[in-house]
This record gives sequence, C-alpha cells and structure tokens, in this order.
Amino acid sequence: MCSFDAMKESIENVRLLFTLTTSDLQEIKEAFQEEMARGLRGEKSSLKMLPVYMGRPKGTEKGDFIVLDMGGTNFRLMKVHLNGKRGARIEAAMRQTIPKKLRQGSKEELFDFLAHHLGTFLHKCQYQDTSFAFTFSFPMVQKSVSSGMLVRWTKGFTVPGVEGEDVALLLSEALQRKGIPHLRLRALLNDTVATLLTASYQSPGFDMAVILGTGTNACYIESSTCLQVNLEENLGEEVIVNLEWGNFNRLPVNEYDHLLDISSPNPGEQRMEKMVSGLYLGELVRLILLKIKGKSSPPYSLSSKKLTSLISNDMTDPREKEIADLVFSRSAQIVAATIVAVITWLDPHVNNHHRVAVDGALFTGYRRYRKRIEEFICQLLPNKGKLIELYPIKSGSGIGAAVACAMN
Ligand code: BGC
Repeated sequence: MCSFDAMKESIENVRLLFTLTTSDLQEIKEAFQEEMARGLRGEKSSLKMLPVYMGRPKGTEKGDFIVLDMGGTNFRLMKVHLNGKRGARIEAAMRQTIPKKLRQGSKEELFDFLAHHLGTFLHKCQYQDTSFAFTFSFPMVQKSVSSGMLVRWTKGFTVPGVEGEDVALLLSEALQRKGIPHLRLRALLNDTVATLLTASYQSPGFDMAVILGTGTNACYIESSTCLQVNLEENLGEEVIVNLEWGNFNRLPVNEYDHLLDISSPNPGEQRMEKMVSGLYLGELVRLILLKIKGKSSPPYSLSSKKLTSLISNDMTDPREKEIADLVFSRSAQIVAATIVAVITWLDPHVNNHHRVAVDGALFTGYRRYRKRIEEFICQLLPNKGKLIELYPIKSGSGIGAAVACAMN
C-alpha cells in the first residue's frame, strides 16, 4: 500500500522544505548585503563584485556591429544596427547549440568552433569592418574592456585549461588557426553588463540588470568611491559591478539542494544558481519526483521549458504540478530577496523609483514566474515594492555588446 497518505505526507514535507518565510527572505537580504560589502572591500566573499571597465552609454552610439554571444548551452552570432537615437535592430542572426562534447572537451576545440562560425557568419554578412564584440557569460576578471580572465566555469562547462586564462587571447589564437587573424576584439563583456547597456541605450535610468536563464547573475551601478580594490585605470564616478550572484552561498539549503550540488561538476560553487536558474530547476523537480514517486528519468532530462508546460497542462498529475510550482516559487523568492538587497544597498529607504532590466528565458518565457518575483518584492517592501520595476529586455546580450563596441 504505497498509500496516498504517505505520498501526501511527502509532498507536505517538500512544501515545508521549499517555502521561505518573510523572515527567511529578510535574512537572505541582510546576508547578501554583508557579502556585497566584503566583496567591495576586496575581502573573501561568495560575491565576486567584479568591476567592469565601461560606463553608461549616451544613446547616441551608432553603427553596424558583429557580436559573438556565448551564453550557456547556446551561442549566437548577430549583426546589430544602432541608429544613434536609442534604437537598435538585429539585421542578421545565427543561433546554435554548443554540443555537450565541446562544453567538456579541449579548449582548442571550443574556441576553434567559435572562430569557425564567426568567420562563416562574417562571410555571409559580407561585413567589411574587422572588429567585433564578444559576450562571454561567465565570471571574468577584467583589466581592460577587451580582455578578461575566466575565474571559473559554470553552467556545466568543464573545458580544462581555460580557467585563469584570458579568453580574448584564446579566441584570437583560434582566429589565427582558422586563417582570419585580422579580426579585432573591441569589447568583451558579461551578459548582465550587456543587458544593462542595452536597457540604458534604449532609455536612461536603469540601476541594475539581472539574467534569469540557464544561469543567473546581476550587475549594478556603484559609486567608484565604494570600490576599495585596485583598478587598472580611473573609471570615473560610476562603475558597473558584476556581482556574480549565482555564487552567493548564504541560503538555507535542503537535502535536494545538497544532492544536486554534490553530483554537479562544481560542488560547493554557484549555490544560488543551483536553486534559482533554468539549468537546475528541472533537476530539482526530477530528484523530488524520484524520491516521492519513484519516478526515474535520466539526470537533467527535465528542462525548465518542460516544467512550465507541465504546470500549464491540465492533464498533469496535480502533485507534480505542485512540486514544480514550489520549486519555481522558491527561485522567485530568492531572486526577489536579492534584488531588494541590491536596491536597498543603493537606496536604503527606497525613496526613489528604480528600474531593473531583466533578460533570460526563465523570466521572459514564463509570466507567472515574473509575477511571483514582483509579489515577493512587495512582500519584503510592503509600501515601497512597487517603486522597483522589472523591465523585460529582449536580446540584451547581443545589442549591449554592439553598444559596448560603439562606446570603445
Ligand atoms: C555566470 C555569469 C552569467 C550568468 C547568466 C552564470 O553561470 O557565472 O557570469 O552572467 O550565468 O548567464
């Protein structure tokens, strides 16, 4: 008698494990701000707080630019037109999945693959200019706008020999091998930074950008005086800081989080990402279903896209629906608490209106998820939550890289 009651009992337990209270969210917010402060002081912190050598665009940047955008599972090539009046258009685009064997293979194979497709795309577009921008959506320490050292792989990449290396150099070596050495990298940037540049190019007043896709991360605009680390050059009054919030590690974790973490290629790292982003939500649900229903399927076979259709399908077992919903909901709670942490860091009493640019399929593809984040922000800031506005940004990582090219 696998009794329905035993099952119900387990689901109740899952509900307990995955529901955060308002006071949990307050604690997360406070712990997050402590980590921000440590990171900005250059002390040990789970938030890397990486300064970026780029300011806000004016909106008058103009021209046609080629962008190579390496996100997580996919990479894209684009030709972007900026009209100099805050308008942008993608004139040509190509998208491809990065095969798993390249995500885990040799560095030459990975960069040769990117260089090959870049060359083919340029040829197809009959593009005359010799420069391009590269959105590389991984943690990088940057000492200039066109170079960056990979700190750690995330999102299932394990290619050896790249951590600690300048990815701009690795790409230029691959371009040489492919016989296109004349191409010059004008801007190298993280996708959060590109999203902030896209939003700020289109209209002024954005403080922060967030990615909620395969991975998760955020950047914001900080006053240079708060940054107590040595910079290669003076960055002016404001500096964009890449939080690398996916690595935040002061969250209440449960047995499923633990199980997922220890069987991942990077145990102990990206703890927040593993509770929030698209790559991992389906895996959490799969692990729960395995435990309470004995329903077995291969690891990572349940994508977040499948999860959203599972939730909206009337034929789905209501218990499965509830589990998926709980896992999504906790992700939205954590994101709400960390957005509130950043905004109240900038404006402790939320006296002003704040605009947050958000890109990534988890956010743009699932309305209910976005609504949840907004509700949890209001729960944390009962009278002020509505002053924080989330703006979905399309193709943020592509357009922003073109803006960066035009600025440099
Ligand atoms: C990476 C970040 C990136 C985020 C979203 C994370 O895994 O560490 O650099 O911004 O994914 O793509």
